Amino acid sequence: MSDAALDVVEFVLTTSVYSDDRTLDENDLPPSYRRVFWTGGSDDGDDEDGRTRGGITRPLSATNSTAREATGVDRPWEAVSGLMFTDRDEFSGTITLTEQGMAEQWYLERVDEERLLENPTLAKHFDEADGYDVDVSHEDARERNRPIQADRVWIDGLLEEYFDEEEDEEMLDLVDVRAPEEVDVTLDDLVLTEGQEAEIDKIAKAIEHRDYLAEIGLREIGKLLFVGPPGTGKTSTAQALAQDMDLPFVEVKLSMITSQYLGETAKNVDKTFEVAKRLSPCILFIDEFDFVAKTRRSDEHAALKRAVNTLLKSIDNISLIQDDVLLIGATNHPDQLDAAAWRRFDEIVNFPKPDYDMRADILRVITRQMRIDEFDPELVAEATEGMTGSDLRMVLREAVLEALTEDRTALTQEDLLNAVEEFEERDNLKNMDMIDGDHDALVAGGDVGSSGDDHGHDHDHDH
Ligand SMILES: Nc1ncnc2c1ncn2[C@@H]1O[C@H](COP(=O)(O)OP(=O)(O)OP(=O)(O)O)[C@@H](O)[C@H]1O
Ligand SMILES: [Mg+2]
Repeated sequence: MSDAALDVVEFVLTTSVYSDDRTLDENDLPPSYRRVFWTGGSDDGDDEDGRTRGGITRPLSATNSTAREATGVDRPWEAVSGLMFTDRDEFSGTITLTEQGMAEQWYLERVDEERLLENPTLAKHFDEADGYDVDVSHEDARERNRPIQADRVWIDGLLEEYFDEEEDEEMLDLVDVRAPEEVDVTLDDLVLTEGQEAEIDKIAKAIEHRDYLAEIGLREIGKLLFVGPPGTGKTSTAQALAQDMDLPFVEVKLSMITSQYLGETAKNVDKTFEVAKRLSPCILFIDEFDFVAKTRRSDEHAALKRAVNTLLKSIDNISLIQDDVLLIGATNHPDQLDAAAWRRFDEIVNFPKPDYDMRADILRVITRQMRIDEFDPELVAEATEGMTGSDLRMVLREAVLEALTEDRTALTQEDLLNAVEEFEERDNLKNMDMIDGDHDALVAGGDVGSSGDDHGHDHDHDH
């Protein structure tokens, strides 16, 4: 029997149990099912305070299209039509269970505890129903299931609720909210230093034991500052944390504050923190943190200063322990931060440029899906002293594109080394003084990045 049948039976069974058991709520449905049945967040269903809120309405109906969307099975009915306990209403297209008991037996014979733990609705059902010897608890399954707050539909509903007036349109430039499912970086994709790993472990433990920390009155925790040059993985690490811990990722782009209609900025900063609190548990990521210090020092517009002060006050008033919001700031210019900014973070995480070993590891990670003949990451690492993870990615991209021009999808070690040289030349160009710089290099046919010969890709890389 195929997995498709099992997936569809689970879905139909879940819709049936959920429809009957009114004590179950959204958080008892696996995220992929929730998405299918979520309605509203727009015009329908205003509640007392006039806010619009989405929700899931009973009964849930299992049709070909809902089943397909929830399980990814192409032809749901065909997958289960051969089973003795399934039926389909010709008119509505609803897939039903003629013998639910039989379906339950059939399902239980094929799943293990791990799988059952991913479906709180069924975990509860089998835990409570007589006659089944199932060793999973409803509580455990719920604990493990991603909360509805992390779903895109829920986030959209919330954002609409907060920022629905026209003047708030710009607000969405200032804050960007991503559901964990939309973050595509994982911790596996990143090569971290021991120090970074230790910090991440520490914060994961703190999140896990927030109740205990609150109990003993330890509140000054959960504000991290990521410090390091561009391209060293600060943003990626913050995102990967969100993905790893299944938390929504709320990003504030500080430079956007200036491009805003200034009168509204302070208010919008306030709202952003409100949203973060409502989305909690979540990660609030504030990039370009040096901007804060810069604004306070300089001769800025009073409204801008007010906005930044609001931001600092909001940071003081948000807490991992009380609000379940993990705050991560990032900066390329730690030297520009004043004492007032530093003081607000309890852990500083250093993002240095990667050393030789890290570069080799990063190269291994980013080439995982590529075919490279005679690949020697150590050798490439040696040739890329001073480059960041982001630079290495660019080198790889260059090598891939270069090979494609020769219709090759398999790379060679030599492609990589050529791309490294190419990258360095680009880097030289970037740093060159275009006015008083090296005249030869500024004239076409000079030796920077030239390919003045007719040999196609055989660039002359001599320096
Ligand atoms: N240590 C690393 N391991 C794997 N990939 C890395 C590492 N550092 C950077 N990268 C890759 O480089 C790219 C850029 O990284 P990211 O945007 O996180 O850098 P950043 O430190 O936030 O830079 P900026 O200061 O410019 O915002 C990403 O694709 C990331 O995956
Ligand atoms: Mg970044």
